[in-house]
Amino acid sequence: MTRNPGHDLLTVPDADNAARQGFVLALKQHLQSWRPQTRALYEREIKSGKNETAAQIRDGLYRNETYQAICCIRRIAQQMMWECIRSPIERNTGTLSEKYQYYASRKNRVGTLTLNPDVEIPESLSRVDVHLQPGGYLRNETDRDILAGALYEAGGALYSQGQNIGTRESKAGVVMRYIDRRYPGFSPGRILDIGCSAGASSVPYAEACPHAEVHGIDVSAGMLRYAHARAEAMGAAVHFHQMNAVDMVFPDGSFDLVVSHNTMHEMADDTRQKMFAECRRLLRPGGICIHQDVPLRFDRLDRFLQAEYSYDQWFNAEPHWLEYACCDFEEMMLLAGFEREHIGVETLKQSDGSFSWYAVTGSNPA
Ligand SMILES: C[S@@+](CC[C@H](N)C(=O)[O-])C[C@H]1O[C@@H](n2cnc3c(N)ncnc32)[C@H](O)[C@@H]1O
Repeated sequence: MTRNPGHDLLTVPDADNAARQGFVLALKQHLQSWRPQTRALYEREIKSGKNETAAQIRDGLYRNETYQAICCIRRIAQQMMWECIRSPIERNTGTLSEKYQYYASRKNRVGTLTLNPDVEIPESLSRVDVHLQPGGYLRNETDRDILAGALYEAGGALYSQGQNIGTRESKAGVVMRYIDRRYPGFSPGRILDIGCSAGASSVPYAEACPHAEVHGIDVSAGMLRYAHARAEAMGAAVHFHQMNAVDMVFPDGSFDLVVSHNTMHEMADDTRQKMFAECRRLLRPGGICIHQDVPLRFDRLDRFLQAEYSYDQWFNAEPHWLEYACCDFEEMMLLAGFEREHIGVETLKQSDGSFSWYAVTGSNPA
């Protein structure tokens, strides 16, 4: 299950833009290799005592001119990434809009799209363009606008490779491999993907479980339109809904499997807490939820790395990065109504490359 499958809605960049994208990718991969040198810089020039807190280390780093330059280059690399992704996609807006119309209205659709313009939008998503995506997750300029999804998919593909995340296994593939190992024989009849964005994680469930009914929810209409057309173009039956994860309009016990992929870190603590409670409500007896996300746990990092990994909160428009890094998942799952013996916090290793994900799991005993 590849991470970046081909389909009819992908915009192929021209040679100039492909070259720019190649340059940005190389730059981002090179910047990863600077991390050990940043620690050496701290030890050599910034450290003012043995017992500095992470906040003191961070303040010291941010006052240092070399570190300031490193942060500028990282931020510029991210802006350059979006620039070389957005120009071919924006030039292709008319075609993308026509393709959306085509897939969303053709007779032999296998999935559905239900939009709700009154959905409650999380405040932070309207305040910032998360990880500097042009127009943010909520870009929605016309009732055919699918650019939020198109940009998200193309940006995510380049960004993840820049983080040295393998391209052969999708995030959903990692989770399904975990399910096979941990719950052999588990065969969900109804699956829900929370915070589905462009549907890149919803589609693999529909493909792997053809007998299951697969639903995806997100607050962003622009993401969901794209997700719907993309899934239809791939022949995958997914039902997309514009809903907020804190208040999902499904009856109690609707799903056997509830998943989220890279969504927990986009939520404030109180939103994540309510989302967990909704998952508990929506699970049938014998049902499982699995929330997979980036492996950022401050209690597993030394104080230097806590300071260094705060970067995304301040410079990459990730408003809940630190809340996510510090929250107590087990406590939150208990508060949400899961029983201690049915909660798990796991590290899921990507099958290609050295990257690992983090997963919070909970089950509703049969
Ligand atoms: C990083 S993206 C998720 C990526 C996607 N799951 C994937 O695997 O490609 C986070 C998504 O969560 C959505 N989101 C954030 N808060 C939400 C909420 N309270 N309810 C529903 N969706 C939310 C955002 O609109 C965004 O599309």
